[in-house]
Amino acid sequence: MHAIFYRVQILFFCNLAHTTKIMKIIRFKNEISAAIKGFKERGKTIGFVPTMGALHDGHKALVTRCVSENDICIVSIFVNPTQFNNIVDLEKYPRNLERDAEMLEKAGCKLIFAPNPEEIYDSVEMSNQFSFDFNGLDKVMEGKFRPGHFNGVVQIVSKLFSLIQPDKAYFGEKDFQQLAIIHHMVKVLNFKVKIIDCPIVREPSGLALSSRNERLTEAQRKNAVEISKVLIESRNFAPKLSPKELTEWIINKMNTVPDLKVEYYEIVNSKSLQILDSWTEPAVGCIAVFCGEVRLIDNIRYNS
Ligand code: PAF
Repeated sequence: MHAIFYRVQILFFCNLAHTTKIMKIIRFKNEISAAIKGFKERGKTIGFVPTMGALHDGHKALVTRCVSENDICIVSIFVNPTQFNNIVDLEKYPRNLERDAEMLEKAGCKLIFAPNPEEIYDSVEMSNQFSFDFNGLDKVMEGKFRPGHFNGVVQIVSKLFSLIQPDKAYFGEKDFQQLAIIHHMVKVLNFKVKIIDCPIVREPSGLALSSRNERLTEAQRKNAVEISKVLIESRNFAPKLSPKELTEWIINKMNTVPDLKVEYYEIVNSKSLQILDSWTEPAVGCIAVFCGEVRLIDNIRYNS
């Protein structure tokens, strides 16, 4: 089985070599460790962008910044099975390594780490939930609606950090709760990496970029634009209405738009993620909304 896989990888690498002459794709932990050792011995700084592939311009912005701020930029492409609550979602998740590699090469990244699940997890890790003390950060929003999701995220990101030992790692603010959890994880597990928070990248219409946008029909996409519009409009009411009143206003307004159905909207402290009942703390509003079958997330800062 392993030997067949290896042949496929070599063939794939040869195919890719035609289009991406200097791009290197590493599949195995021992190979990436050897490469990292070499970089460290030569005093190179390492920047890291973890991804699950299906890359878009939001990822490109992270990679471009990573390339400009480090000697080496490593991007991981790994559809992490342990962070999916739904097997169908995992199977449906778009995978196109060749297209991603082309995009990454254009952005200046020369090293991709793209392991298979068997290279990362043993069977026990694969079937048991990873346990971690989130200090309550996982009890709201995504954590509440996708139980176990952040256990899987911390499990994979901590493994990748241990392997790649980056000086800096880049994450998008669209996944606001994930970012807060990564900051917490780095502190608790004492990783020597600087987490770089990168702003949400939006289409000119305001729609936050997401791999899932590809699944929207033209009509749904028009309606999805209302998500950011309503969030921006809500800023005008922030001091007048309480967080609770503003939350209700947003949910009602969003739900009047065809195709949109809010799963949650919460106004939370931007660090502790605890739900706010006044505007005295730095506040961010986070939304998950279904547009037809497609679940989209976005967020907006109020006073921070
Ligand atoms: O944000 C993502 O794409 C994933 O959650 C991450 C951080 C790559 C971990 O699998």
